[in-house]
Formats: sequence, structure tokens, C-alpha cells
Amino acid sequence: MFIQIFVLFLEFFSFTVVFGGNCQIEDCLFSVDNYTCPESYTKVTRTMGEYCIKVKAGSLDTFGAEADCQTENSVLASIESPDEANLILELSLTATSTEGWCWVGAQRLAACYGENFADYACQPLKTASFRWTDGFTVGTDGFIFTDPQPNNLAYNQNCLALVSASSSYLSGQNLAPGSLGDAPCNMTDQVVSYACGQPATISST
Ligand SMILES: *[C@@H]1O[C@H](CO)[C@@H](O)[C@H](O)[C@H]1NC(C)=O
Ligand SMILES: *[C@@H]1O[C@H](CO)[C@@H](O)[C@H](O)[C@H]1NC(C)=O
Repeated sequence: MFIQIFVLFLEFFSFTVVFGGNCQIEDCLFSVDNYTCPESYTKVTRTMGEYCIKVKAGSLDTFGAEADCQTENSVLASIESPDEANLILELSLTATSTEGWCWVGAQRLAACYGENFADYACQPLKTASFRWTDGFTVGTDGFIFTDPQPNNLAYNQNCLALVSASSSYLSGQNLAPGSLGDAPCNMTDQVVSYACGQPATISST
């Protein structure tokens, strides 16, 4: 009995030494190429690992969009980098010919509810007001706003959508293609698409 326990301990110890203490054993045997996305998703590399993104056309509010993403085991996808913002813009422009807003996974922090740009307590405005909700996004590089966004104009703009439009469509507006705007989570007006995402998984083949 004691010997068996000792052998188990040795096995555990050798795994820890050979594969390193910081990664799960199966992660250490696979490279990023072994992580795959479901068909119709695009794979991106994030700090936390490989991630899959898809943009679907539809004029839903965030609750409907989140529920639809869940039918394919996804959630609303957040944005980790300017490259991902550009990717979501391109995927959205491809998914629908209508220009407007594409929901992404973000929520205004509860401490920042009911404040607008004039009396805003959450500073800096562009990076300290929201959190990413997909559970797989690190940092604030994906919070890309053009002034005066995020302005919380109606004091209830607690979700974020990406501008899915060309610069000519936006002419005269303070919005850039692929940048973000805050909007009421139940908005459907001008919503044309939503980004779904899920971590990539190790393919069994
Ligand atoms: C990971 O993918 C590579 C390239 O497809 C393949 O050669 C390798 O066998 C895979 N690794 C494992 C552990 O399956
Ligand atoms: C969204 O919710 C607010 C607050 O509950 C409500 O006043 C508004 O009418 C709703 N808007 C839509 C488009 O449903």
C-alpha cells in the first residue's frame, strides 16, 4: 500500500517535471494547430488560448443574440485586439449587406450605471466603464471608441456594439468602421448582426 502511494507520487512528480507545472498535461502535448473551430468560425489567437469567432446576421437585442449564440455552444464574443475588431467588421459586412450595429460581448460595470459622459465617475471613460463577458478576453486593447463614445447618452446604454458600416455610410457621424458604441441592451433598431464566440477545442483526429 505504502509503496503504491509512493509510486503514484513519483509518477505525478515526473509529469510535473517533464511537462511543467503551469500547463495542464494535455495542453502541453498539443500545439495551437491542434485546436480547431467549428465550421463557419474563424480562429484567432488570444492570451488565454485559441478562440473561435463567427458573425451572424440578425436584428436581435443582446438577450436574443446571446440565446442564439448559445444554440451553438457560444456566447456573444468579446474583442481582445484591434485585429479582432477588424475581423468582426469584415465578417459582419460579409454576413449582411445592411449597415448598422453588430453586438459584441460586453457589459457596463454596475458601478458605472446611470452615469453619462458629463458626470462620469468611471475614468478613464474608454477603458474603465465596461467589462468583457465571454470569459476568454484579457485587457483593454479591444475597447476601441471614437469620441464621444461611450457616452451613455440615455443613461441606459449598458451594452456594446461594433459599427458594421463603411466610412462613406458613416459620413458626418462621429463613428468609425469597426469602432464601438454603447447602446441599450434591448435595442434592435439598426442592429444588423452579432458576434458569437467559443474557445477552440482539441480535435480528436
Ligand atoms: C497535432 O497536430 C499535428 C499537425 O496536424 C499532428 O501532426 C500531431 O500529431 C497532432 N498532435 C497530437 C498529439 O495529436
Ligand atoms: C428597453 O428597456 C427600457 C427600460 O426597461 C424601456 O423603457 C424601453 O422601452 C425598451 N426598449 C425597447 C426597444 O424595447
